[in-house]
Amino acid sequence: MSDRANFGHDTTTDQVLEGIDLTEARALVSGGTAGLGVETARSLAAHGAAVTLTARDMDRGETVAAGIRESTGNQAVDAMELDLASLASVRAFTDAYLARHDTLNILINNAGVMGCPELKTEDGFELQFGTNHLGHFLMTSRLVPALLKGAPSRVVALSSRAHHMAPVNFDDLDFSARGYNKWVAYGQSKTANILFAVALDARLKERGVRAYAVHPGVIETELSRHMDEADQALLNARAEQIGNWRLKPVAAGAATSVYAATAPELENQGGIYLEDCGVAPIENESTSHGVRDYALELSTAEHLWQVSEDLVGESFSF
Ligand SMILES: NC(=O)c1ccc[n+]([C@@H]2O[C@H](COP(=O)([O-])OP(=O)(O)OC[C@H]3O[C@@H](n4cnc5c(N)ncnc54)[C@H](OP(=O)(O)O)[C@@H]3O)[C@@H](O)[C@H]2O)c1
Repeated sequence: MSDRANFGHDTTTDQVLEGIDLTEARALVSGGTAGLGVETARSLAAHGAAVTLTARDMDRGETVAAGIRESTGNQAVDAMELDLASLASVRAFTDAYLARHDTLNILINNAGVMGCPELKTEDGFELQFGTNHLGHFLMTSRLVPALLKGAPSRVVALSSRAHHMAPVNFDDLDFSARGYNKWVAYGQSKTANILFAVALDARLKERGVRAYAVHPGVIETELSRHMDEADQALLNARAEQIGNWRLKPVAAGAATSVYAATAPELENQGGIYLEDCGVAPIENESTSHGVRDYALELSTAEHLWQVSEDLVGESFSF
């Protein structure tokens, strides 16, 4: 049995899931075609869960799903099409998902885009806020009936330590006033991911649905696809400043997601931020760990919820 009390930076998905039987669980992982999403889906399937992963490119999605079926022997793994940068795609996906499954136990909001040039989603939102937050906001809210039916169930929002870089600026969500900064935009979207977990947990905890936000660590994946040399230099300088800092392999990077999704010791907690397979402290100064208090404020989370409903043009009465 894994020594759960000693989980930390190097703990892997399979160590987190050792001794945990997911054969009755149905899981959904957004962004299952690369990086952490592939390993998250694989590890959940390896421990028995029925897993749907989402893909923008269905050829890629089918290939990953087939690979997981083969490596785990679990045939209950499939791929479905989803582009979070299109509200129409999110609505089509959730309709299709709910037509197939009325129950969901584990939802991992994993997909994300980082540090891209100034771009808009199909509906005109700044791309990082639109994809990382609004797409997941709409998707999760539309899946709540299945999460309630599957209760006890959990939602995990992939955030990032980059949330330290920016709170949500409600006066200039799309950077039309302050001028676009790709890192502030990423940070804002990752703070929104935490606030979403806080608001969702507050709404649903009495009915057995708990929500968590996660910083996975720093892992070499395709997330860096938009980074140029100047970005790399910035990152190196920041790493230098933080000191004692190590990359994680993907199996350790996905571990905090599956920890949040399954750890028995989190049963009576939610609306919290985790890193290195544990609950992170509130930390307003350090750049090396912890969660900023502005990301956990319930009043801000509720405000973001209302603003998000207005932006996607749909309100939710659960
Ligand atoms: N890697 C790190 O060091 C790190 C650190 C902190 C936080 N995170 C967070 O961890 C999560 C996973 O990141 P990763 O490192 O695994 O990144 P990755 O390798 O780039 O994978 C991202 C996944 O998201 C999908 N995706 C991107 N845009 C999408 C859209 N519009 N609609 C639907 N899916 C979309 C990608 O699909 P395609 O294959 O179609 O591109 C891919 O499957 C992200 O939320 C990221 O912010 C990562």
